[in-house]
Amino acid sequence: MNISFTLNGASVSIDAPPATTLLDLLRDRLELRGTKEYCHSGVCGACTVIADGQAVSSCSLLAPQMEGKDILTIEGLTPEEGLHPIQQAFVDNFGLQCGYCTPGMILLTKALLDENPAPTREEVVRYMGGNICRCTGYAGILRSVQAAAAATHPPQ
Ligand code: FES
Ligand code: FES
Repeated sequence: MNISFTLNGASVSIDAPPATTLLDLLRDRLELRGTKEYCHSGVCGACTVIADGQAVSSCSLLAPQMEGKDILTIEGLTPEEGLHPIQQAFVDNFGLQCGYCTPGMILLTKALLDENPAPTREEVVRYMGGNICRCTGYAGILRSVQAAAAATHPPQ
């Protein structure tokens, strides 16, 4: 089947079998490997992208569901030069070690802050509880999200 959608601000039209996941399309066909693959069953959050403003597991989104969607991956968030403020907050606050979960964590942070610009620590924990990190123990990630909130939506 043919699928048309917007990816990081550009139109994409591609042929793929209906059972193709967005994750496979991104990594194998479009060579965007910033989106990570781990469980491939909707459990770990490593493959998180933003679709129509909502954080979703790209391994759970099948070709027919992509039609017409507006999808943002970590490549689309990253500016041509330097880092997005959320990325910088993760660097500055030790929000990563191996980095494998990091693109998903950063996009989940963006979706959270777009919805709730000043989340409490409990709201961050609740929102981000589905994304798994094997390395950091989460304290650095929580600090990073709160620093990102301060950087992207400073108090008026
Ligand atoms: S690879 Fe998609 S949720 Fe784990
Ligand atoms: S930094 Fe290694 S999995 Fe999170």
